[in-house]
Amino acid sequence: MTFELHFCNIGLMVIPITKAIFPVAGLGTRFLPATKASPKEMLPLVDKPLIQYVVEEAIASGIEEIIIVTGRGKRAIEDHFDISYELEDILRQKGNGKLLAEVQKISNMLDICYVRQKEPYGLGHAILCARNLVKKEPFAVLLGDDVIDADIPALKQMLEIYHTYNAPVVAIQEVDRSQVSYYGIIKANLVGERVYRVSDMVEKPPVEEAPSNLAIIGRYLLTPDIMELLGKTRPGAGKEIQLTDALRELTKIRPVYAYQFHGTRYDAGDKFGFLKATVEFALKNKEFGKDFRQYLKTLKL
Ligand code: G1P
Repeated sequence: MTFELHFCNIGLMVIPITKAIFPVAGLGTRFLPATKASPKEMLPLVDKPLIQYVVEEAIASGIEEIIIVTGRGKRAIEDHFDISYELEDILRQKGNGKLLAEVQKISNMLDICYVRQKEPYGLGHAILCARNLVKKEPFAVLLGDDVIDADIPALKQMLEIYHTYNAPVVAIQEVDRSQVSYYGIIKANLVGERVYRVSDMVEKPPVEEAPSNLAIIGRYLLTPDIMELLGKTRPGAGKEIQLTDALRELTKIRPVYAYQFHGTRYDAGDKFGFLKATVEFALKNKEFGKDFRQYLKTLKL
């Protein structure tokens, strides 16, 4: 098969992406009651909260500044990435250098700023809350409950596509048709290896209206013009301001691409997805993965 290449902005300089928005103001209703008083992004996957895996992916992909869009009840996230003097002091006194280094690593990761989403108007609205911080630059969006295990970080893979096409890129994967109503679904043509040019997209369609089974996963590389479109977007699915609806408008103005990344994605904001991630990450754990495998074998399943 030959692929048609769409170099939409040939001659124009590609502006590097160094900022990432993490919208974390969602209520986490799929994980109640665990998320009643603590953020779903702080659920521990083996020994790190979900959001730390995603922050580490962003850093490994070259992101230098993170903007976390928080909401009520999300303070634990700020504390997690902050310095904890008391804890560090105790670990120092106890001579536990290994844990101390681990704890310090988290607060030294990179610059994080916080902006508050005062009302739960959805993902699109959350991104709009960070408008003044991203200014006129392109930026990444990472959803804290989509944990992706990949040899090359998923965001890094997408950045290559962004640099090749000089255009917005969304992450996608194929899902079972019975699952399409949980996702943003794209209509698109294959234009390169695992790369699609998006012609339309719809948020959480009923199965009979889904244009494909290619679902948007929580990684986006966006250009600043999306902010203006978000400002004009009316509430859509779930009566929320949907990023998918603004992106749909963007496809009418400029080429938008989708990339089917290499790697395994876990929907860790969902109870079953979280359990799968926990088992698979535990099996890979250097410290006790082998013992855990042995333990699983003893279960009479
Ligand atoms: C959000 C997006 C949706 C996307 C999904 C990926 O939905 O709106 O388009 O497919 O993330 O996880 P949510 O899961 O927040 O309802």
